[in-house]
Amino acid sequence: MTAGRPRRAASGTAAPVVVALRVNGRACRVVTAPHRTLLDLLREDLGLASVRRGCGRGECGACTVLLDGRAVNACLVLAPDARGCEVTTVEGLGAGGSVHPLQRALVESGAVRCGHCIPGLVLRAVALLAEHPAPSAAELRAGLAGNVCRCGAHAQLVRGIALAVPALRETGGRRGGRGGRVQ
Ligand code: FES
Ligand code: FES
Repeated sequence: MTAGRPRRAASGTAAPVVVALRVNGRACRVVTAPHRTLLDLLREDLGLASVRRGCGRGECGACTVLLDGRAVNACLVLAPDARGCEVTTVEGLGAGGSVHPLQRALVESGAVRCGHCIPGLVLRAVALLAEHPAPSAAELRAGLAGNVCRCGAHAQLVRGIALAVPALRETGGRRGGRGGRVQ
C-alpha cells in the first residue's frame, strides 16, 4: 500500500508486471505497467466504470474502493501493491436482487445529482459502518468528509446515510443485490 501519490515512471518503458487479485469475488489477472494505479487497472483494464476518476491525487474520494475491506483511494495505490488483495467496488456490493440499503437510502434522500461521487461515498460508508456500526452524526460527517460531492449535495447525502444507519444495524448490514445501478 502506498501512503502518497504513486510515482509515475519517467518513461513508459518499464517492463510489464502481472497483478493477480480478486475483484468483486472473481479472480483476475492483469498485465500492466508497474507505475499504473489501482484506479487505472479497475477502470481501464477491467472496465469498472463505477470507480470514478476525479482529482487523481487523493483529494476527492471519487475513486474509493474497498481493499481487503478497507476504504482506499484507488488513485493512490499502485496496481502491483494490490496483488493478492480482495477489491470491492459498488458492482460487488450486492447479492440477490436489490440494491444495497445505503444506495437505496441515497436515492431516497433526493440528494443525488450527477452521481459522480456516489459509488465512492457508498463504499466509504460501508467501510466506516463495518468498523463503527453506531456512529454519531459528527463521526459520520468526519468519516465521509474526504468524499467530495462536486454538486454541493454532500451534507444531504450524509444525512441520507445517517437515516439508513439504524435499519442497517437491525439487518446486520445485510447486503442488497445487483438489481440497481446507483453509480
Ligand atoms: S480520483 Fe482518487 S481521490 Fe480523487
Ligand atoms: S451528486 Fe454530483 S458529485 Fe455528488
